[in-house]
Amino acid sequence: MQKSKPISYSRTTITELMIPSYANFGGKIHGGILLSLMDKVAYACASKHAGAYVVTVSVDGVNFLQPIEVGELLSLHASVNYVGRSSMVIGIRVVSENVKTGEQKHTNTSYFTMVAKDDSGKPTEVPMLELEDQADVRRCLEAIKRKQLKEAYKDDFDNEKSSMHLEDNLHLLTNERVIIK
Ligand SMILES: CC(C)(COP(=O)(O)OP(=O)(O)OC[C@H]1O[C@@H](n2cnc3c(N)ncnc32)[C@H](O)[C@@H]1OP(=O)(O)O)[C@@H](O)C(=O)NCCC(=O)NCCS
Repeated sequence: MQKSKPISYSRTTITELMIPSYANFGGKIHGGILLSLMDKVAYACASKHAGAYVVTVSVDGVNFLQPIEVGELLSLHASVNYVGRSSMVIGIRVVSENVKTGEQKHTNTSYFTMVAKDDSGKPTEVPMLELEDQADVRRCLEAIKRKQLKEAYKDDFDNEKSSMHLEDNLHLLTNERVIIK
């Protein structure tokens, strides 16, 4: 295994035409199709960096900000933002383009955590990441912050959940659009 690899080595773009079978009755592309394409580009990018097969472990920041229409060209740009021992955070920027007007829209940026596995299915070490410019350094630092905040949120939420008494929290439903039957 190589000791380290530059981010540029595994940077990957997939471009795909949005065809009618990807769309709902309103002509907008299904979220599941986008997730599948994001998983595909994350896999390609992560396995190239790892030099091994990988699995998807978690998906963060999936917010579809703008609808994507049939006939648009969708480009998914992926790069490794951070590596742990066996895990890699892949940042994916999704841009949709109207081929006639050339107008582009940024539909979402999401982060997939992928883990490299060895032939026996155990998590295996991946090469260190060579940060090549300031943008790489920024993305790596953001990934570290995101990881820290996610861990803190998980701990806080787990504590809240385990100490939550239904009776003490019923007031939270007062202004919600629910009916208790
Ligand atoms: C994720 C998985 C590899 C963890 O295996 P494990 O034996 O618990 O291994 P570890 O605890 O050593 O974790 C391995 C790495 O995954 C990371 N990881 C585990 N759970 C994670 C989570 N929820 N979010 C982010 N990273 C996670 C760990 O931090 C560790 O990273 P590191 O090696 O860079 O420090 C294992 O649970 C698995 O194979 N899950 C199924 C994945 C899959 O099939 N995906 C397809 C979905 S259909």
